[in-house]
Amino acid sequence: MQTIYEVQQEILRLKKEHDVCILAHSYQSPDILEIADITGDSFLLSKMAAEQNTHRLLMCGVRFMAETAKLLSPQKHIYEANPTAGCPMAEQFSPEEILAEKAKHPDCAVVAYVNTSAALKAISDVCVTSSSAVEIVKKLPQHDILFIPDCNLGAYVQANCPEKQFHLLKGGCPHHSSITVEEAQAAKLAHPDALLLVHPECKKEISAMADYVGATSGILQYAKQSAAKEFIIGTEISITAQLALACPEKRFYPIANRLMCPDMRATTVSDIARVLREIGNGSAQELLLPDALMTSARHCLDEMLRLGG
Ligand code: 13P
Ligand code: SF4
Repeated sequence: MQTIYEVQQEILRLKKEHDVCILAHSYQSPDILEIADITGDSFLLSKMAAEQNTHRLLMCGVRFMAETAKLLSPQKHIYEANPTAGCPMAEQFSPEEILAEKAKHPDCAVVAYVNTSAALKAISDVCVTSSSAVEIVKKLPQHDILFIPDCNLGAYVQANCPEKQFHLLKGGCPHHSSITVEEAQAAKLAHPDALLLVHPECKKEISAMADYVGATSGILQYAKQSAAKEFIIGTEISITAQLALACPEKRFYPIANRLMCPDMRATTVSDIARVLREIGNGSAQELLLPDALMTSARHCLDEMLRLGG
């Protein structure tokens, strides 16, 4: 049986041999982040997927991230490191349900969190990520915003764009939205000198208690640059571990130990090595989307990159 180090060495050799660019979301495990070519939050991965010159991309994250890469780069071959990994939020609503909501507010812009299926993107006006949502919504000409599917991120954007009228639905991340006020209070009580940093997918009561609310990239940057020495981290537990490695002189505490996304954790270095071997022998399953869906879903991602800067 190969050690993790040996699997990593095989990955480094195979990705070079087959000209594959490996993209990994920041929630992936450290052994994956070490061998990836590009690591970052959803917005950075989308942007970089569109800008890469290599014609094969291997996505380590969840399905909507691989779909986003395919929509932005239809000519490239996109592979999922683990095709079973999906974001449960991405399919919380059907396109029919959203179109019925849109019919109630005909002048609204449908703003889709990037954590949505390609079918939902196809009926949306613009996509946003948690790090680009406020900036993009502010730039939209429409006054009415139907924000799908995450009502917690939607409420955060609404608080930062008071000039717009928001219509929110009852969707959200099952993990971030499960954090309770009691858990946040207990963490603050246990670590009274720590700053509380949370992701905007958390409920607004939790964001209201925080010293900083921001996307994955924002939380990482804030904690690294802050003069403070202790932090309670209100997002996926991998970020707490990553910060502890990056800043050994600081202390990081998870807001709740159970804050783990099984889908984001589904991928292993062995999955990556297997897909690379399959690319080599021609048996890899490439991610394909129907042409009509590609055409209709692409527009809102192009708008995201245009308005997101
Ligand atoms: P980011 O946009 O911060 O990368 O978040 C993606 C995600 O799935 C958070 O749960
Ligand atoms: Fe989806 Fe939540 Fe997992 Fe992010 S953490 S991929 S939003 S389920």
